[in-house]
Parts: sequence; C-alpha cells; structure tokens
Amino acid sequence: MTGAAPRPLALVTGASSGIGAALALELAINGYDLALAARSAGALETVAEDCRALGAATHVFPADLCAPDGPAKLMAALSAQGLQIELLVNNAGFGDLAPFRDAPPGKLLVMVDLNIRALTALCHAALPGLIARGRGGILNVASTAGFQPGPGMAVYYASKAYVLSLSEALHHELKPHGLTVTALCPGPVQTGFQAAAGMEGAGLMKLPLVSAAEAARVGVKGFLRRKRIAVPGWPYKLLAVTRGISPRWLTFLILDRLQGGGR
Ligand SMILES: NC(=O)c1ccc[n+]([C@@H]2O[C@H](COP(=O)([O-])OP(=O)(O)OC[C@H]3O[C@@H](n4cnc5c(N)ncnc54)[C@H](OP(=O)(O)O)[C@@H]3O)[C@@H](O)[C@H]2O)c1
Repeated sequence: MTGAAPRPLALVTGASSGIGAALALELAINGYDLALAARSAGALETVAEDCRALGAATHVFPADLCAPDGPAKLMAALSAQGLQIELLVNNAGFGDLAPFRDAPPGKLLVMVDLNIRALTALCHAALPGLIARGRGGILNVASTAGFQPGPGMAVYYASKAYVLSLSEALHHELKPHGLTVTALCPGPVQTGFQAAAGMEGAGLMKLPLVSAAEAARVGVKGFLRRKRIAVPGWPYKLLAVTRGISPRWLTFLILDRLQGGGR
C-alpha cells in the first residue's frame, strides 16, 4: 500500500493577521502545510491552531523581517528544522498615509526595508531550493497601489510598483524552471493595515471593499493556475486592464479625492 503524497510546505510572512492569516487558512484548505512568520508570536500561534484544525502541519517562526539579518535568520531557522518550502508567500508589509515631506524618514525607510528589501532577500534565498525541486514558486502580495504613483502615500505605492515589477519579471524568468511567480494585487481590504497607515477615515475606504478571505482565495487560485497577476474584485480587475492607459492627471485627480494627494 502506498501512503498519501506529502503535503507541500508554504512559508507565509505577515501571517499573524489580515490577508496573511487568510492566505495561511486558504493554503491549508488547498492541501499545504505551513510555516508562519511575523513578529507577534501569540497571534501567529492562534492562526497556526486554525490551520492545524484544517489538517495542515503548521510551524511558527516569530521574526522581525525589518532587521538587517531578519530574512536570513528566518530561512536559517527553517533549514535548522529540515523544512523545505515549495511556496514562498511574501505578504508582510505596511503603508503610511502622509505627504512625503511630513512622513517620519525612519518610518519610510523601515517600509522600504519590509516591503522591498526583505521581500527581495526572501525571494532570492528561496530560489535555489525551488529551482532544484522544479515545482512551486512565489506569491508576492503587491497591491492595486502598484499600478500607478500615489501622491499622499508615495513610498508605499512605489514599493508596491517594485513588488509588481519584480514579480512579473520573475514570472517570465522562472517559467522555464517549472516555477510560478504570481503578484496578488488587492484593492482596499479591511485589516490592521488601515490603523498602521493612519488612513481609517480616508476616502479610499469608501471604495468597494474585498474581504481578506476573498483576497486570499483569489491569490491562491491565481497562483495554482500559474497566473502572472491575480486581482480580487471586478472594479479592480478593470483598473488592472486600464493601467498605463488612463492619463496621470486623471489618476492624480482621483487620488487627491481619495487620500489627500499629499498636498
Ligand atoms: N489591507 C489593504 O487594504 C491592502 C491592500 C492591498 C495590499 N495590501 C498588502 O497586504 C499585505 C498584508 O497587509 P494586511 O492588509 O493584511 O495588513 P495587516 O493586518 O496589518 O498585516 C500586516 C502583517 O505584516 C506583519 N509585519 C509587519 N511588520 C513586520 C515585520 N517587521 N516583520 C515581520 N512581519 C511584519 C504583521 O505582523 P506583526 O505585526 O505580528 O509583525 C502582519 O502579520 C501588505 O503587504 C499590504 O501592503 C493590503
């Protein structure tokens, strides 16, 4: 009698809340075991229990990915436990609603550290193992913010444009190796993100909201179907199609209304 095929392992960063927690649950439903990373050990353990209840062997890795050696330490901790990932989900990230000139420079640089540097380091560190296995890949959480510049949240939008551009390039580079790289681009999702970004009253939150569970469902489905980009919700799919076509003056007019335009 042959045993059941082993479940593939997914590493999800920022899995302690919001979209990351929902991605972990969605992956458990889709047959993955999980390694969950974020700073809040207690919240990670709660999400891990929910994943285990869905049949996923789940490991918890408290980690600060903004620390210079955070990504390397996380990958070393997985290796030390003999864990080999088949899917890397780069979800940890945050934003800040403020005109560029007023934003605390330290906060902006930590944002770059998490949204860009840690994500890049984890992608690079995961690749040798993924290429050797010849299956699986990377799901990077970008945003519809990556579709255009965002006065009022300039560094956040630029960081998500980086994530989107990197993911699309890697999708093409890694296809011949049997790997998939997908960028998940949600519009506004009600999570801890708004409080962290100081944007709870912003007009952006009056747009049609997608739930974290729906964003996760669309992201995992998009990855499993080997899509380059996955966009939850039809208004945002439309935005994806028209990016690059709509004139900047119109984009900035809309963003001025929705998030103050950084003036
Ligand atoms: N919510 C939206 O409207 C929206 C829309 C589009 C894209 N996104 C993107 O979705 C992703 C998840 O955000 P969310 O909406 O789910 O917000 P969230 O609930 O605030 O989740 C952010 C996650 O990142 C983790 N994190 C923050 N700093 C970290 C650090 N230094 N090291 C490790 N983990 C860290 C947090 O955990 P700890 O605090 O425990 O470390 C948390 O698990 C982000 O990349 C965000 O840009 C969000």
